[in-house]
Amino acid sequence: MEIRLVIAVCFLTFFTLTKGQFQAPSFAGILNLVRYQNSDCIGSNGLEGTCLSAAECSNRKGSSIGNCANGFGACCLEKFTCGNITSKNETVFVHRNYPLDGENDTDTCQVTIEKLTGVCQLRLDFLEFSLGQPDKNGQCTTDSFMVRTTIGEKLPVLCGENSGQHLYVDLGRGSVNPVVLSVVSNGNNVTRRWKIKISMIKCNSLDMAPPGCLQYHRKSNDLVRSFNWGPKINGQVRYLSNLRYTVCTRVEENFCAIKWETETPNSFSWGLPPTGGSKGSDCNNDDFICISQGSSNGLTVGEDRFCGVKLIDNNVIITKARPFLLLVKSDANTTMNNKYSQNGFSLRYTQLPCVI
Ligand SMILES: *[C@@H]1O[C@H](CO)[C@@H](O)[C@H](O)[C@H]1NC(C)=O
Ligand SMILES: *[C@@H]1O[C@H](CO)[C@@H](O)[C@H](O)[C@H]1NC(C)=O
Ligand SMILES: *[C@@H]1O[C@H](CO)[C@@H](O)[C@H](O)[C@H]1NC(C)=O
Ligand SMILES: *[C@@H]1O[C@H](CO)[C@@H](O)[C@H](O)[C@H]1NC(C)=O
Ligand SMILES: *[C@@H]1O[C@H](CO)[C@@H](O)[C@H](O)[C@H]1NC(C)=O
Repeated sequence: MEIRLVIAVCFLTFFTLTKGQFQAPSFAGILNLVRYQNSDCIGSNGLEGTCLSAAECSNRKGSSIGNCANGFGACCLEKFTCGNITSKNETVFVHRNYPLDGENDTDTCQVTIEKLTGVCQLRLDFLEFSLGQPDKNGQCTTDSFMVRTTIGEKLPVLCGENSGQHLYVDLGRGSVNPVVLSVVSNGNNVTRRWKIKISMIKCNSLDMAPPGCLQYHRKSNDLVRSFNWGPKINGQVRYLSNLRYTVCTRVEENFCAIKWETETPNSFSWGLPPTGGSKGSDCNNDDFICISQGSSNGLTVGEDRFCGVKLIDNNVIITKARPFLLLVKSDANTTMNNKYSQNGFSLRYTQLPCVI
C-alpha cells in the first residue's frame, strides 16, 4: 500500500513536471491536505493556526491567516472569544476582532472554561493584555478583567498593560463548576487587545503552584513586576488599588536564601513615605510588600513589611525564611501614590546557594 502510494506520488510528480499544472494538482492537493490536515501552521504575523481545507475553515467560523499543505490548505485561526465555552487544554482567549485591533465599545466579553476531570488549577498567560488604564483611585472602572470561580479567594480585578504577566487559579479537587473569565470594556477611545492562554494543570502535577499563590516562578532567578507597571499615562500613575496577593517562587534544591533587588535604581515605589525606604510598622499608613524576615544582608532577623521609594537602604532585601514569598498589598486609594509619582515595582529575585 505504502509502496503503491510512493509510486503514485513519483508518477504524479513526473506527470506534473511533464504535463504541466493540468489535471494532476488536485490529486496532489488531496495528498497534501491528508498529510497536513489538522496539523499546526504559522500564518501571517506569526500567528498559530490549524491546517484545514478552506471550506472546513469557513464551516468552523475561523479566518484564514495564510496557506498550508504546500498551498493546498488554509491556515485557519479559530477564535475562542466572547460567548464561547471550552473544555480543551491550552485554549487561547482573544477579543472579537483578533488579530485586528480590539473592542471599541461598551461590552462584556465572557468565556467559560469547563475543567477536565483531574484538573486542580488553571494557569493564565497574558500573551497580550492591553486594556484601559485605571482611574485616579487606581480602580479599574473603565475596563476590567475578572476571573470568577466558585471556590477560593477572590482574584484581583486587573486593567491596563499586563502583557507577560500570568495568574494561577485554584479550582479545588471536588468542584466541577466552570470558571468564567470576563473583560468588561466601557466606551470608545481605548485600544483593547488580549490573547490569554489557558492551561489546565492536573492535580498532583509538579506544575501545580502551591495553594494561594497568584503568581508562581519556577526559576532560581526571575523578574517580578506589579500589575500595569510603568510610567505615568496622561498624568496618572498606573498603580492598581485593592490588591492583596502572593507571588511564590519555587525553592530550588541547594538554595537557602533569596535576594530581592530593584531591576533599575528607581523601580520600586510602593506606598508612603515619598522619600527613602521604610519598613515594619512604618508601612502601616499606606501600601506595602511583605518579605518575611528581610534585611539588607540577610543576617539579622529583619522585618516583614517594606514600603516607600526604595527597598530599605540599598534597594536589596535578603531573607532565609522559607518558602520564598512576596506578598503585595494596596489599599483602595492611590491619591497619595499619584501625588508622589509612584510607579509600582519591577524587582529581580535571585536564589542564593547554601554555604556550608
Ligand atoms: C465560538 O462560538 C461561535 C458562535 O456560537 C461558534 O460558531 C464557534 O464555533 C465557537 N468557537 C469555538 C472555538 O468554540
Ligand atoms: C473607535 O471609536 C471612535 C469613536 O467613535 C472612532 O473614531 C474610531 O474610528 C473607532 N476605532 C476603531 C478601531 O473602530
Ligand atoms: C479620546 O482621546 C483623546 C486623546 O486622549 C481626547 O482628546 C478625546 O477627547 C477623547 N475622546 C473621547 C470621545 O473620549
Ligand atoms: C495541558 O497541556 C500541558 C502542556 O502540554 C500539559 O503539561 C498538561 O498536563 C495538560 N493538562 C491536561 C489536563 O492534560
Ligand atoms: C483618598 O485618600 C486621600 C488622601 O488620604 C483622601 O483625601 C481622599 O478623600 C481619599 N479618596 C477616596 C475616594 O477614598
